[in-house]
Amino acid sequence: MSAYIIEGGSKLYGSVRVHGAKNSALPILAACILTNGECVIDDCPPLRDVEGTVRILRRLGATTVRDGDTLAVKASALAKNDIPDSLMREMRSSVIFLGALTARYGSARLSYPGGCELGPRPIDLHLAGLRSLGAKIVESGGGIECSAPDGLRGCDISLSIPSVGATENIMLAATAAKGRTRIFNPAREPEIVDLQNFLTAMGAEVRGAGGSIIEIEGGKPLHGARHRVIPDRIVAATYMAAVASAGGAVSIENVRPADIASVSAVLREAGVDIRESQNRIEVASEGRLKSVRPIKTQGYPGFPTDAQSIIMSVMASAQGTTMFVENIFESRYRHAGELIRMGADIRVEGRVAVVSGVKRLYGANVSATDLRGGAGLVVAALGAEGETAVGDIEFIERGYCGLDESLAGLGAKISRR
Ligand code: EPZ
Repeated sequence: MSAYIIEGGSKLYGSVRVHGAKNSALPILAACILTNGECVIDDCPPLRDVEGTVRILRRLGATTVRDGDTLAVKASALAKNDIPDSLMREMRSSVIFLGALTARYGSARLSYPGGCELGPRPIDLHLAGLRSLGAKIVESGGGIECSAPDGLRGCDISLSIPSVGATENIMLAATAAKGRTRIFNPAREPEIVDLQNFLTAMGAEVRGAGGSIIEIEGGKPLHGARHRVIPDRIVAATYMAAVASAGGAVSIENVRPADIASVSAVLREAGVDIRESQNRIEVASEGRLKSVRPIKTQGYPGFPTDAQSIIMSVMASAQGTTMFVENIFESRYRHAGELIRMGADIRVEGRVAVVSGVKRLYGANVSATDLRGGAGLVVAALGAEGETAVGDIEFIERGYCGLDESLAGLGAKISRR
């Protein structure tokens, strides 16, 4: 396993460009199998999770051609409707292919995605949604057999949790369901709107994404389309947190400020100077930050769970105590133990973490526990005194392209071992 070696204490200056959003690219790549036409996806970063999805597309029989950050996908020769255990275990979010394969073939076979570092990752809402559309789903021996021999039929579906993945799976399946499907209490994340925009470009009739009801008029033939993936709002939040932790002044380019407004509000309250314009956020921070009012993770537009560990690293050396409440995932505080190794004072009780700011963190040997937990450790190391080795960075590379190069370009002392 590789590691980042970070010498803390260097302030960050300059500008950095945010790459396309992982959590938008993944469902969009699954949507590419809904047509035989060629789809061209711009700003589709070569992240580990994106390359994993490309491996699934190729195994299903699609052809893919990468040219820098542009990926062309053609699914005319698609020949399989099953995803093997090895690929499902590598990336549980591949469950997103369930809706797309059922839409295309009327059947799909996946192994259970299983849990991950964030705790059990149930898919009951995905399966209930597909059953409502008329799919027959048999779960046995760790596998899922989904079939719709008579095709799918549009209907009203209410989600008890605004699940991002379930919303996407239902949207993808509903494009092939005859008639109207309405999704009540859907996820409202910007990535859901991006998926709607791509499906619309393919000729689907989808509207309402980002709001309280998403409506899909299914059964339309879909064609290829070209689409630019929206900027990754969590990567943008990571750069903002890096400046908050290390100090300095950085211009973050290719970002939509509204997508990450809840994190900007918290950092402003902590004392970070944040100026927003059309597609840029300028961040400046000097001296010790202050603790903030309790941070409770919620679905969009609330404070994103994916930014929780990243902001916890900033609050660990702020003046005062900050309380976090993680309402989305069951166990998303595994990074706290690693921060404590760096001198942080954090008490975790179930969904609550109380972070009492210390004057400074100290470099230590730590390991990434998951994607955003690992990113949080990098943020902490940038502001810590001394050298930190962050191990298991393969987790981090699932969602960040060249994080070390980008930070080094801003003046951070970081190298990859
Ligand atoms: C997506 O995961 C993201 N992943 C996650 O980002 C993100 O943290 C999460 O949404 C929340 O915003 C991708 O988009 C690939 P959910 P997803 O379904 O779809 C429960 C990252 O760091 N639930 O909205 O799996 C579930 O257990 C990753 O980039 C059910 O109970 O999240 C969780 O507690 C990590 N039944 C809550 O809902 C279901 O059928 C929210 O999960 C589905 C979900």
